[in-house]
Amino acid sequence: MTNTQIKTQRLVLRQPRASDIQMIAQHLGDYEVAKMLARVPYPYDLETGRQRLQKIIEWWEKPSSAPELVFHVDHKGQMIGSVSFKALHETPEIGYWLGRPHWGQGMMSEAVAAAIDWLFQTTDHEMVLGTAMEENTNSLNVLTKCGFEAIGRSASMSLARGDYVPDIVMKLTRNAFTALKVA
Ligand SMILES: CC(C)(COP(=O)(O)OP(=O)(O)OC[C@H]1O[C@@H](n2cnc3c(N)ncnc32)[C@H](O)[C@@H]1OP(=O)(O)O)[C@@H](O)C(=O)NCCC(=O)NCCS
Repeated sequence: MTNTQIKTQRLVLRQPRASDIQMIAQHLGDYEVAKMLARVPYPYDLETGRQRLQKIIEWWEKPSSAPELVFHVDHKGQMIGSVSFKALHETPEIGYWLGRPHWGQGMMSEAVAAAIDWLFQTTDHEMVLGTAMEENTNSLNVLTKCGFEAIGRSASMSLARGDYVPDIVMKLTRNAFTALKVA
């Protein structure tokens, strides 16, 4: 059992726990959040949510073989969002969401920068990928502020919309992130 925590000026990124389900359901039950994510159905399904939460808790028991590592983000002791890395055995891909009441305060840029710093410090990966829907300016801004650059276009299934949506694939190298940190 690990107890990984990342602290920033305003936030704590920590391992998920079963009691998070209420805040997850509240925030992901918001169509404005769900519609920008690939794997979240709308309306939100509590039972599927509980099953996924159980899995992401278990994955932290053996981080080296986990298919995905998910941090939950706390602000003033309350869970407000999530940052995750999947495909950790290939090129890690970052994913994130923030409950709508917390948008527009720089919280996710702060969380993503800290999570990437953790990834580069604790693994040998040289690159992390990020994908956002073309229309998702807020998310593309988060990636750009953290040093990501666009490398191509793709399309992903949005469960909430029941359709494919065009998106932009971005990459961040260890070197580019380090250069941004020291600038
Ligand atoms: C993507 C998402 C996390 C972005 O959240 P966000 O709050 O816009 O992102 P940030 O944390 O970077 O905050 C940026 C805003 O905070 C403002 N801000 C206020 N105080 C700030 C501070 N102290 N520091 C930095 N920025 C601050 C910035 O000016 C910026 O607003 P602007 O873009 O209008 O200029 C959010 O829109 C979301 O969860 N959407 C739904 C799910 C989703 O899209 N996930 C990503 C899928 S790829």
